[in-house]
Amino acid sequence: MNKYTDNTFCTAPMLDLSDDHCRFFWRLLTKKSMLYTEMVTTGAVIYSKKDYLLFNESESPLALQLGGSNPGDLAFCAKKAEKYNYQEINLNVGCPSDRVQNGGFGASLMANPQLVADCVKSMMDAVSIPVSVKCRIGIDELDSYEYLQNFIETVSACGCDLFIIHARKAWLQGLSPRENRDIPPLKYESVYQIKKDFPQLNIVINGGIDSIDACKEHLKHVDGVMLGRTVYDQPYILADVDREIYGDENASAVTREEVMEQIIRYAEEYVSKGGKLSNITRHILGLYFGCPGARTFRRILSQDAILKGAGVECIKKALNSMHQAAADNEEHERMYLANLQKSE
Ligand SMILES: Cc1cc2nc3c(=O)[nH]c(=O)nc-3n(C[C@H](O)[C@H](O)[C@H](O)COP(=O)(O)O)c2cc1C
Repeated sequence: MNKYTDNTFCTAPMLDLSDDHCRFFWRLLTKKSMLYTEMVTTGAVIYSKKDYLLFNESESPLALQLGGSNPGDLAFCAKKAEKYNYQEINLNVGCPSDRVQNGGFGASLMANPQLVADCVKSMMDAVSIPVSVKCRIGIDELDSYEYLQNFIETVSACGCDLFIIHARKAWLQGLSPRENRDIPPLKYESVYQIKKDFPQLNIVINGGIDSIDACKEHLKHVDGVMLGRTVYDQPYILADVDREIYGDENASAVTREEVMEQIIRYAEEYVSKGGKLSNITRHILGLYFGCPGARTFRRILSQDAILKGAGVECIKKALNSMHQAAADNEEHERMYLANLQKSE
């Protein structure tokens, strides 16, 4: 992979989801994965009073995803991000939302490969960390393989060698961003073909990847995988990444209980400074996905953590209720089997 980052396993940038609390949580589960911020627009970095680039060093390695299409603004933001110690800058060329389209960036940039190349070049000239592009396989009628090939060729000509490709096109009119993540069919073959045609580039595949086994299968064809919704909904999948994907034999999967201990400490500190508990707990609802009592954990936490003044006792209550629900369930099953035996 490239000089500074290892993008074999990446978590996807997700607006309103992959925020600092979420990344703190994910980092407890995997040390090696490359994490991405939510998209931050150049306008927000340049004009907002809030510092959108602040992050905790414990989240590293972390890539900042920028949204914008002005080469000068992007270079300014990239330079600032490098000073903050981000390990990579990623340009969003995949978001189809109206707001982003009106701003002239995101997926609509796929129609203008030369502008993307100019943006990337401008950032690369400004920083020494890697600059990557996250794009789709096409937009609207510009969806032939040749179009994608030309896009990659044009952008890589400026020296960019890391592309994350969401293996479905986007319709800029008529589909919501959410629909654009599900309705256009996945075409993994197009991404594999890009790797064949540009073997010197680092190609990361994204879209609909739902297990470690599926990651391993994709990694036979491309350099990296990026997962979004699966990681968000079933975060414990991350506990296997360092060993199963990065081959770190010494990485033993952290237990859910160990993760919860750290989350409780983190939440305690955050709440004591006036933070809202649910800002943290909303990201951990899926931690027990697939475990007995998981639904109880999720329900109690989502109901109680949003109440005014909620503290970490909510988390403890959710854990206790989950264990109780699991035990009740086991007992219920035991009695059912005993009755079945009696009636036979
Ligand atoms: C709630 C949500 C917000 C997203 N926000 C962004 C974003 O800010 N930037 C981006 O490039 N992609 C964004 N995406 C798209 C994801 O990065 C990813 O490309 C997409 O979800 C497909 O991957 P998946 O099937 O593994 O989820 C978002 C996806 C979701 C579900």
